[in-house]
Amino acid sequence: MRGSLGPQRDPRVEKPESDAVVIFGITGDLAYKKIIPALANLKRRGRLDMPFIGVAREGWTLERLRERICESLREHGDEQSRSTGMELAESLRYVAGDYREADTFQRLREALNDAQTPLHYLAIPPSLFGDVIGSLDESGCSRGARVVVEKPLGRDLESARELNSTLASSFDESSIFRIDHYLGKEPVQNLLYFRFANSFLEPLWNRVHVSSVQFTMAESFGIEGRGKLYEELGAMRDVVQNHLLQVVSMLAMEPPVRYASDSLRDEKVKVLQAVRTLKDASVVRGQYEGYREGEKDVAADSSVETYVALRLDIDSARWAGVPFFIRAGKSMAATATEVMVRFHPPAHRLFSTKSKTPNYVRFRLGPERVAIGLGVNTKEPGEAMSGRASELLMCDEEAGKMGAYERLIGDALRGDPTLFARQDSIEEAWRIVDPVIHRVDGRGNPPRSYAAGGWGPVQADALTAAIGGWHNPGAGC
Ligand code: BG6
Repeated sequence: MRGSLGPQRDPRVEKPESDAVVIFGITGDLAYKKIIPALANLKRRGRLDMPFIGVAREGWTLERLRERICESLREHGDEQSRSTGMELAESLRYVAGDYREADTFQRLREALNDAQTPLHYLAIPPSLFGDVIGSLDESGCSRGARVVVEKPLGRDLESARELNSTLASSFDESSIFRIDHYLGKEPVQNLLYFRFANSFLEPLWNRVHVSSVQFTMAESFGIEGRGKLYEELGAMRDVVQNHLLQVVSMLAMEPPVRYASDSLRDEKVKVLQAVRTLKDASVVRGQYEGYREGEKDVAADSSVETYVALRLDIDSARWAGVPFFIRAGKSMAATATEVMVRFHPPAHRLFSTKSKTPNYVRFRLGPERVAIGLGVNTKEPGEAMSGRASELLMCDEEAGKMGAYERLIGDALRGDPTLFARQDSIEEAWRIVDPVIHRVDGRGNPPRSYAAGGWGPVQADALTAAIGGWHNPGAGC
């Protein structure tokens, strides 16, 4: 057996595999870009030998929908998923109808036939969750079922709680799968694996040895025509409250007792509980030049941030005093997500070195690949005992190929919630950002403008000045 981190699944929680998959919003964007390619790969691996039912309001013919499946795979699938495209399309059944009408759900009930544990994926706007969940309940389609939902799970703490009570009215927590696709990414899981599968890191992973931690999620593209949605979100709601705080909790958590759903999720939520609620003074918001004028569906006086940088403080025995910096932005100089954990320099400097604090561990989380670098000082060849910065690098460009959605939908079909966000962690994450986003909605703390293709507004430099500035991820690994 290759080194696996404890039992892969908790043997005490064997759950039945789902026996039907239902995609609400099958004609929508999320299904087109992410869900269909993931289902095609699951089909190819023999994980989808079950009824596959699409539901949507559009009165499309089955042929048109099947054609869309093939189109989706041509545009967003990989070679492997395309090979099972026809098979997937042919297995599809379509239920078209209004989400408020009992007849739609009656037809869904019939299509489900005798399925005992169907998986309902709500790839629809959260404003429709209430109607769909109520109707699933009344029609009996929610009996024994699982439900998959994804962001935006609320726009603040209060609305996240309301949304959850809608879900909880028909499904218990163990049947609710809240997708945060970052948790399904291979490099994010590798971060977890690397931390706990090696013995050398754990003794160093604390305030005594770590001087700072930085997360950068830079995207070289803008909002890609999503103006309507993005105006409701901004960078904080789009990627910080969810993806980046989930990654922070994985990086900073205590060792879980086992690799199983609640052990892991208990430790993750404890990190977020220890994070101080943000204040304006530790947040810099930015907006790229041209956002208001050049993007469709964006208000001429929009104060939505396309960039945010902030400092987090974690009040725990492990991390007290260690600053965690997060920065996320659109239209930046590169597309790269990276975590940089820096260590204190040696207490006694025996040798001179020209390099700037190379003691670090660097995790490259995107684009799709796994890369981990250890920044070290090594001796410069020659007579003098002087040093130079080097990096010991593991880079696997192929490792990120299995899509996050494929993995996560596979886990949900199996009933394994380990890599899904639990409601308590979602609420803690909202608690952390809530005061800052509310002030922003009221138009305080205006965004600073920054040039597209750069590293964000200069005002953000002050946040990291004391640790020598931001680390800008390079090209490649
Ligand atoms: C999404 C955000 O959740 O994540 C997008 O809405 C962002 O704005 C995307 O671009 C990034 O995900 P990935 O997997 O491409 O790194």
